[in-house]
Amino acid sequence: MMLFNICGPHNSGLNPHLDAVTFRGVRIENTPVWLQNVMAKSGLFQEYIIKMAQVVSWFWLGEEGTFTYWPNGPLEDPVKVGHPMWNKGVLVQNELMFHRGDPVGRPDERAVPGLAHRSLLEYRKDADDWAITTDGDVIRTYEPKNIRFLVHWNAEVYMDLREAKLVMDHTDDLTHERAIGTLLADMRAKGVEVDDPTDPFHDEAFIHALTSTYTIAPTKDWIERRPDQRMSG
Ligand SMILES: [Fe+2]
Repeated sequence: MMLFNICGPHNSGLNPHLDAVTFRGVRIENTPVWLQNVMAKSGLFQEYIIKMAQVVSWFWLGEEGTFTYWPNGPLEDPVKVGHPMWNKGVLVQNELMFHRGDPVGRPDERAVPGLAHRSLLEYRKDADDWAITTDGDVIRTYEPKNIRFLVHWNAEVYMDLREAKLVMDHTDDLTHERAIGTLLADMRAKGVEVDDPTDPFHDEAFIHALTSTYTIAPTKDWIERRPDQRMSG
């Protein structure tokens, strides 16, 4: 899988995160991301994890826009991939290592007033710039030199032919029923009071019990984290 990310200066969410973990039988195509993350943090499904490797690379000449990661676990100091961020990349396993794309550009140039989830970004040949529009109105433009390009390559990795066959032949896949059953039994063994969910993917009490039982997050950071700053200037 490849992801391409084109952006200008903006504030990003400052919370470190893990990318969705893929298990044999439980993957992004059939499972909500929160459940994949809960399963990973529980440590109960390690033998079903499909190993992944990513290469993330940047092409960016402006300020900030760095990448912060916690290579020694969430309780140790983070490391920052810094400038120059041009044709530079990291080889990572982002499902198992906390990381974060830092805000891009100078603080004073990050605001995008009028940005909405339906906004669009396009390159305009005549003006030779990139424009963000909301309902057809241009709300922000960027010169090409103020655009950051990110390429994210993601691959499944197998130790040997046996492991490849296990994944591709689906001979030992997890099911949602088994995953939910294992999590329920583990929570109850920990003393968490939780009812059997009727619709596990949408039962809010059940989801809350899971996300609060299996929680872990970095405690050290170089950036000061305040509540969500994505839309502020
Ligand atoms: Fe990520």
